[in-house]
Amino acid sequence: MPLVAEYIQKLEPYRPGKPIDDVRREYGLEKIIKLASNENPLGVSPLAIQAMIGSIHQINRYPDIASLLLRSKLAEMFNVGYDSIVTGHGSEAIMQTAVRTFLMNGEEVITAEGTFVGFYIMVKACGIKMQLIPLKDYRYNLKAIAGAITPKTKMIYLVNPNSPTGTIYTKSEFEEFMKCIPPNVLVIVDEAYIEFVKDHPDFPDSMDYRYDNVITLRTFSKAYGLAGIRIGYGFAHPELISQMHKVRLPFEPGIPSQAAGVAALMDKQFLDYYLKLNNCGKEFLYDSYNKLGIEYVKTEANFIMSVFDSEKRVNDITDKLLRKGVIVRGLKPFLLPNCIRVTIGLPEENQIYIDTLKLIL
Ligand SMILES: Cc1ncc(COP(=O)(O)O)c(C=O)c1O
Repeated sequence: MPLVAEYIQKLEPYRPGKPIDDVRREYGLEKIIKLASNENPLGVSPLAIQAMIGSIHQINRYPDIASLLLRSKLAEMFNVGYDSIVTGHGSEAIMQTAVRTFLMNGEEVITAEGTFVGFYIMVKACGIKMQLIPLKDYRYNLKAIAGAITPKTKMIYLVNPNSPTGTIYTKSEFEEFMKCIPPNVLVIVDEAYIEFVKDHPDFPDSMDYRYDNVITLRTFSKAYGLAGIRIGYGFAHPELISQMHKVRLPFEPGIPSQAAGVAALMDKQFLDYYLKLNNCGKEFLYDSYNKLGIEYVKTEANFIMSVFDSEKRVNDITDKLLRKGVIVRGLKPFLLPNCIRVTIGLPEENQIYIDTLKLIL
């Protein structure tokens, strides 16, 4: 018997945007700008910092297994029962709990080609078969996904707004799609970037549709600026949540993470300021791309995807940017090899990125 299953041996590990210290060391650069992982460039909410510091003297104890304070706060904010909420060590941990809880041998998953790479890896790591449906004009093709369902399909994974494209599917597309989904097929709706699109009139917030077979995933890693402490949450029917609670790691998330989450939800000023800053950065980058003649896809999130004529060109540009201290993300792992995703940064970071790009081009 082999030590490691063939599907694990074949697995390509998750490769995040290169860490700042690695680039500094490798290229001997002083100033590094990281625009590769859609993190909040402003920093951390001051209220969350205070809460984490305040919680630190308790870390000789295990965390509250029920995340009582955080789940109560979320229940109040979203007007749902406490038993409809799960928390985790980042939304990816909840995604993994869902995969482990609900997928059995022989069952299959459907998602899009050109969506969050973390999900591809997670499903492959369980040896589960996955159907990938091509995007249409860089948007989810929900009709084609619904049409691909077979008796073996157990789970469908949707990201809205999608990463890495920044596009959304609309209310009417989602409503039509859900009419075609059998009740025994679970739909995971990953809303990691929802804060950026809240006011869009056509955006279907999955919390406005409480379907019994939909699991909503949210994170504090993006708009809330807490990527490094690992904290996410999810909503679903209490029966699904109670099954997931049996499978999740009992003590995730940690004490400072739970405290940071509660505080971040209350720091509206920090969130509003960042959303405004992101919108200004978006307009600046659109304008710069227009002037440079770079093709890009309009975004509803905190990053912009640009499109080039080949993977070779993408590798050339990302490599040259890296050597000058600007870290962006080539999208081959996301199955869009001729595209680059750039996180919208602070105004001076966006300016340096564009100046460097001009030099390279
Ligand atoms: C669509 C999507 N889902 C989930 C995640 C991971 O979120 P978390 O940090 O909460 O695990 C990311 C991070 O890049 C993402 O883009």
